[in-house]
Amino acid sequence: MNSSKEIDIKDLEPVNLPAHVAIIMDGNGRWAKKRLMNRITGHEKGSDTVREIVKASREIGIKVLTLYAFSTENWQRPKTEVSALMTLLERFLIKERNEMLDNNIRLNAIGQLERLPKKVFTALQESINLTEKNDKMILNLALSYGGREEIVRMTREISQMVKSGSINENSITPELVSQHLYTGGMPDPDILIRPGGEMRISNFLLWQISYAEIFVTDTLWPDFSREEYIKILKDYQSRERRFGKVE
Ligand code: FPP
Repeated sequence: MNSSKEIDIKDLEPVNLPAHVAIIMDGNGRWAKKRLMNRITGHEKGSDTVREIVKASREIGIKVLTLYAFSTENWQRPKTEVSALMTLLERFLIKERNEMLDNNIRLNAIGQLERLPKKVFTALQESINLTEKNDKMILNLALSYGGREEIVRMTREISQMVKSGSINENSITPELVSQHLYTGGMPDPDILIRPGGEMRISNFLLWQISYAEIFVTDTLWPDFSREEYIKILKDYQSRERRFGKVE
């Protein structure tokens, strides 16, 4: 008999769920190394975890799930690894289309998407178009994404507006800045989860995570499970968020 009580979605308070969950998926390489496998096998296992966590997020009622799948810095990894990651991504985008359609999930992507190989870019665009009417959850993939690059891009856009006279500098507010980031129109992440144990932000959503609750777990991404995810969300629900104020 299994006497340990397993945590499940019903243990979460539906009124106090994070609207936006952001995850830095880390530890695929270490997971593989521990098993004397190559890093690519780690990424393959990591994409199974992506599937499981997307499914769990939709069941839980998360509105936006942002996954850091490929950073601007990741282009500097060995060519074989970059190309394996791109293949995995393309496979995911095609294979998961029906699942996204059946579950009312809208796909979105943030980052320098024009740098993606043509095949991946096309698969991405097709999945985005096919799911654009879905409204239960946004699966937001950060691809060739870097927070500093995003801020520079926003600064250029807003400078252009000032230069052309369509706004003056006093119209530059935090809200305007938010609108001109890739995530414009989305709520900021309430929670940032980082598997793999590193205490770093790694150029992820620098502006948007100002008030996010941060959870770092030593579990490597391929081993991250629905159960641990729910436990973290339960812990999130017990935190008092003050946004710099006193209660
Ligand atoms: C970091 O682990 C992970 C990545 C750079 C890639 C994340 C990609 C996936 C989980 C799979 C493909 C994505 C989708 C959306 C299907 P690491 O390689 O830096 O691990 P390490 O720190 O242990 O070396």
